[in-house]
Amino acid sequence: MNPAARLAHLRPSPIRALSEGAPADAVPMGLGEPGWDLPAPAVEALAGFSGPCAYGPNAGLPELQEAVGAFHGAPAAEVLLTAGSQGALFALAQAYAGPGDGVLVPDPGFLAYPALARVAGAEPVPYALGPGFELDPDRFRAALDAAPRARMALVNHPGNPTGAGCSRAALAEVAEACARRGVLLISDEVYRDLRLGEPAPSLREVTGDGIVLGSVSKAWGAPGLRVGWALGAAPLLAPARLVHAYMVTAPARTSQLAALALVRESETVLAQAREHLRVRWEAFAGAFAQHFGHRPAPGAGGFYHWLALPPGADPMPFCLRLRDEGRVVVVPGQAFGDRGRDFVRLSYAGHPALIREGVARLAPFWSQP
Ligand SMILES: Cc1ncc(COP(=O)(O)O)c(C=O)c1O
Repeated sequence: MNPAARLAHLRPSPIRALSEGAPADAVPMGLGEPGWDLPAPAVEALAGFSGPCAYGPNAGLPELQEAVGAFHGAPAAEVLLTAGSQGALFALAQAYAGPGDGVLVPDPGFLAYPALARVAGAEPVPYALGPGFELDPDRFRAALDAAPRARMALVNHPGNPTGAGCSRAALAEVAEACARRGVLLISDEVYRDLRLGEPAPSLREVTGDGIVLGSVSKAWGAPGLRVGWALGAAPLLAPARLVHAYMVTAPARTSQLAALALVRESETVLAQAREHLRVRWEAFAGAFAQHFGHRPAPGAGGFYHWLALPPGADPMPFCLRLRDEGRVVVVPGQAFGDRGRDFVRLSYAGHPALIREGVARLAPFWSQP
């Protein structure tokens, strides 16, 4: 029995494939999730749960909608709670993109974007980023102009896999270009609150249109809760809410209660997360300076370093050598799009001692590729 034709281009994530085949003592610098413990408010909320574990409303628990709305300065009605922000991405793609439609996705960019566009039967339209992988309005517009059937566009800053940000002016220009064409703009801001410096601009600061995605998976340190959200005008969210309701009914109640405890304690939880990030960045940047000979520049947020491959390296065989001979798992940049071909993504979200060890193990492959 063959699967549906729209799955023809769908492949398992190379990130998982590389991690799963790794030697037992390999340093994991591949997966994109915080390596620190679940913050205390969530641990206490999970331990304290009692009573019926009911489904709850499709859009999520009203008190969590309220708390997420308050965090973003939005009314609760403009918050759709989902099974991770990936649940929101899936539901939005199903709600707004269909066969023949184009979905603009950053290249390089989060690999779920093109996959979810395809699952909706739509066509991903990769757009190029600027020289430092920041959002570049001219390159975005060029891709939009060449895609007459575009219905939806995704921007992501701070970006996965590059850590790059974008300027408020660039975001405003992109929002205007989408508004002019009637294209739904989705700004994935899941890494925005996990940063060493100033916050990246939010789409909400430049337009009342469009949708912003957030999640407890990164800055609130709780990827396994699977709670995220889409923020936007209620009529815009309504079709996605319908899809999401048929997908999962509602996000898991216990997870939402734990997420509620985290979001209510955002001030403490996010300050601690930034300290976890700072310690890991120092471990990474210090080891990098020692073994690669120069200190890297930090990104706009998140926990990824985007490293150029040694000249002439064949990406996949090189990453397999790093894994099997060097015993470090990294992700080849081409997993994130053709324009990522000459890079690897390193994640420094794990334990600082392991990060230092990972960088030390990687360095010889750059000095003698
Ligand atoms: C850019 C980006 N968006 C969305 C997600 C999905 O996160 P979640 O579904 O855990 O909220 C990820 C996960 O790695 C990501 O990197």
